[in-house]
Amino acid sequence: MKCDRQTLPIAAIREENSSLRTFTFNGQLNAEPGQFIMLTIFSQGEKPFSILDVDGDSFSMTIKNMGPFTDRLFQMEVGELVSVRGPYGQSFTRHSGSILMVGGGFATPPLRFLAKKLREDGVKRLVNVNGARSAEDLLYVDDFEILCHQSHIATDDGSLGHKGTSVDVMEKVLQDETFDQIYISGPEKMMKAAVVVAKKHQIPYEVNLERYMKCGVGICGSCVMDPTGLILCMEGPIVDNQTLDRLEDFGTAHRGKTGRKTTI
Ligand SMILES: Cc1cc2nc3c(=O)[nH]c(=O)nc-3n(C[C@H](O)[C@H](O)[C@H](O)COP(=O)(O)OP(=O)(O)OC[C@H]3O[C@@H](n4cnc5c(N)ncnc54)[C@H](O)[C@@H]3O)c2cc1C
Ligand code: FES
Repeated sequence: MKCDRQTLPIAAIREENSSLRTFTFNGQLNAEPGQFIMLTIFSQGEKPFSILDVDGDSFSMTIKNMGPFTDRLFQMEVGELVSVRGPYGQSFTRHSGSILMVGGGFATPPLRFLAKKLREDGVKRLVNVNGARSAEDLLYVDDFEILCHQSHIATDDGSLGHKGTSVDVMEKVLQDETFDQIYISGPEKMMKAAVVVAKKHQIPYEVNLERYMKCGVGICGSCVMDPTGLILCMEGPIVDNQTLDRLEDFGTAHRGKTGRKTTI
């Protein structure tokens, strides 16, 4: 088990919208799209976050203010110290053919990182669907526009792009074009719906799953998914269609802070 821990000052903070900020650190992280880090705030604990980007000797994460930990992070300023360990988990498998990415809400950071890497690889075709509640909640609209051959937007309230969900747009895109691989990252309900569409079109897919993670390295059992006992922090968070088919918990149940299982 590796534990590459770095204690680093926050190098930059960018406000994405009223509840989301991107935190950048100057340090080396040998990470692939879909992997995550454990971020420690001294005296506040440790939480998992997906990697948005690795650029030379710096890396970043986009974080939503959700509760005590993220609230404390949002009070911090450039120069203050945190600690980062990782990267952990399985990344997306990079394919070079014709690719569709379907993202929702603030789960799009790994797809933005993936889009960058796929373009560096010389991917044949890259189409993205970026969905959120409203225009204000959409992330990386300009980045996806630049990185993808085609980029679609969906908002629940119709304030930008198609009025509806990213899965509605995914269905429309698949009426006109087929793909070799689909990558999905969003709220679990949205991913469940996207999986139904991907299955209908018989296209392989990978999804980005989230479960309560305490250790990030396969010790605590907090992130285990039934009935296979998949240890999501090590064997995920990116899971392929064959693995996902065996996970009854997908879209139905998750374990909370105490390990108790509740229905979604
Ligand atoms: C692999 C992975 C990648 C993630 N990537 C991102 C990201 O890129 N950006 C982002 O904003 N958030 C991400 N999260 C969620 C992030 O860890 C939680 O938002 C954060 O821990 C909230 O902590 P809090 O104390 O501020 O809020 P709390 O009030 O403690 O929790 C708010 C909600 O966050 C979730 N949460 C809390 N603690 C954990 C935990 N230890 N593990 C998983 N979920 C938790 C729960 O759904 C909870 O209901 C990721 C989670 C996982 C598992
Ligand atoms: S978070 Fe501890 S085993 Fe996965």
